[in-house]
Amino acid sequence: MDRDAPPMIAYDRVAKSFGATTAVDNVTLTVAHGELLAIVGGSGSGKTTLLRLANRLIELDAGSVRIAGDDIRTADPIALRRRIGTVFQAAALFPHMSVAANIGITPKLLGWSKADISARVDELLDLVRLDPAQHRRRFPHELSGGQRQRVGVARALAAKPEIVLMDEPFGALDPLTRDALGEDFRALHQRLGLTTILITHDITEALLLADRIAVMRAGKLLEQGTPAGLSASREPYVAELMQTPRRQAQRLAALLDGGA
Ligand SMILES: Nc1ncnc2c1ncn2[C@@H]1O[C@H](COP(=O)(O)OP(=O)(O)OP(=O)(O)O)[C@@H](O)[C@H]1O
Ligand SMILES: [Mg+2]
Repeated sequence: MDRDAPPMIAYDRVAKSFGATTAVDNVTLTVAHGELLAIVGGSGSGKTTLLRLANRLIELDAGSVRIAGDDIRTADPIALRRRIGTVFQAAALFPHMSVAANIGITPKLLGWSKADISARVDELLDLVRLDPAQHRRRFPHELSGGQRQRVGVARALAAKPEIVLMDEPFGALDPLTRDALGEDFRALHQRLGLTTILITHDITEALLLADRIAVMRAGKLLEQGTPAGLSASREPYVAELMQTPRRQAQRLAALLDGGA
């Protein structure tokens, strides 16, 4: 990769308030090409706002966001949306549309031919490991939660974006499904050379899936680093955050050893 190339996503001193609430407070953060960055932090710490600023679902008050060097305020909004796929929490599919129509919505808006869309839908269903013959005609209510999230991922990837933004995508799933989906997404991220931001409440999920983790607190970026780097942090909140997975791992190791 070109060492001088700009980061894929660059937040520079970004701020956003809603009335008296400062949701995002002077955040500077970059995500490299091909990187998977997890954002963790408590409820109301500004994670969703930060994510939505990147594709202009929310407009920023101050600072700038650049995608591969292009300022999003001067970029063509349609081109921007093409470059960025989004996956939000469960039930974000259109309920009255089939799986195929849900996945094909962006290509359709972009004017792809019916044949191209249909071929792409099959390709994407394969990619997220759902049998096209079985699933393309179903409606969201005819799917399990995990299957719905797989369709959500397929929809986000439909127009071949370079960037995927995910807001608690696996939050509502049972732990096994969640784990499988997380692993599958990580593999997809790698295989497709994506740049991904993943918001999660689950620090263990962040540690297992991400190259780098950003910790938000009260609108501020408290700390960022690799899983190993963060686990050595002396910042009290970060250190506390890292306690849970560590304790769980120790307890599990003790249990699975059968006390031997
Ligand atoms: N549209 C809005 N209008 C008013 N306040 C908002 C709006 N969106 C977010 N906020 C406020 O901004 C702050 C940050 O919210 P945000 O949704 O970014 O948090 P979050 O970290 O994603 O939380 P959660 O983990 O609960 O999803 C909160 O205090 C929230 O109430
Ligand atoms: Mg949120």
